Amino acid sequence: MTDIIRLPIASWDQPCSPQEQFAATQALEDGQVLLLPQLDFPLLDAERPFLSPDIAGAAKNVSLNPADGSVRGSSAAGTELGVLHGMMTRFAASSQTLLRQLLSPYAPTLRAGRTSFRPVEIAGRETSWRKDDTRLHVDSFPSSPTGGERILRLFTNVHPQGRTRSWRLGESFEGVARRYLPSLHRPLPGSCELLHLLGITKGRRTAYDHFMLQLHDRMKADTKYQAQVEQSTHEFAPGQTWLVYTDQASHAAMAGQYAFEQTFYLPVAGMVESAKSPLRVLERLMRRELV
Ligand code: SIN
Ligand code: FE
Repeated sequence: MTDIIRLPIASWDQPCSPQEQFAATQALEDGQVLLLPQLDFPLLDAERPFLSPDIAGAAKNVSLNPADGSVRGSSAAGTELGVLHGMMTRFAASSQTLLRQLLSPYAPTLRAGRTSFRPVEIAGRETSWRKDDTRLHVDSFPSSPTGGERILRLFTNVHPQGRTRSWRLGESFEGVARRYLPSLHRPLPGSCELLHLLGITKGRRTAYDHFMLQLHDRMKADTKYQAQVEQSTHEFAPGQTWLVYTDQASHAAMAGQYAFEQTFYLPVAGMVESAKSPLRVLERLMRRELV
């Protein structure tokens, strides 16, 4: 079962002891959620107007692309867009500062991905079952194959009126894999290359990506599983930050509004114990390389 491990870190640039760093990598690589209950991200006065779903325009998230520094998915323009950009880059920089201290074993290979601001209430949002993150799932995205690289995500709840972000946490990755593996299909020969050639995927979808997408879909489509699998609920309060490997820990976001999220990618070889990665777990269970 996915568990919550707490660490008393109160600032983004706080030096972390070797013991704290060891506890952090171990909890994360075991698929647990690492909660920093005292780590807040206070907004500046000029940023407070962004605490409205209107800032997201038609999209549900505002995102910062690390490749070119552009902000997408917002209705802001001119000076307002400049302030929004400042808020997003400050969160990205704070997250990176934290991870340099807290997860220093990862420093040589960790890569920052997108930063997102999520101002829309989760509960009651209309989506297809496949995009419905209120269903337990492990993260895997059709157009962005990782080839096995880890997806590590950091969240901070910044709701101004005390509303928690409510998650469900489910069974272990190995539990998910053992349950669904016997019924998964193998990729058709050449199909991964074709998806890349046609520009449908950014990079080549490997056999690993193929099986992870199926796990993601099987979990979400299985309503009996959603109701009956061993699970727990956790309320992340405003002013709290948490980290989790979302490609490994079964999670579902049920309710809440106003959170930041920073994605990081880590090659499997950059982990402390790479045998715990979904890639190595699947390879062990399937007795084949998933390249
Ligand atoms: C998810 O990764 O499924 C959504 C998490 C959230 O927005 O709280
Ligand atoms: Fe997710």
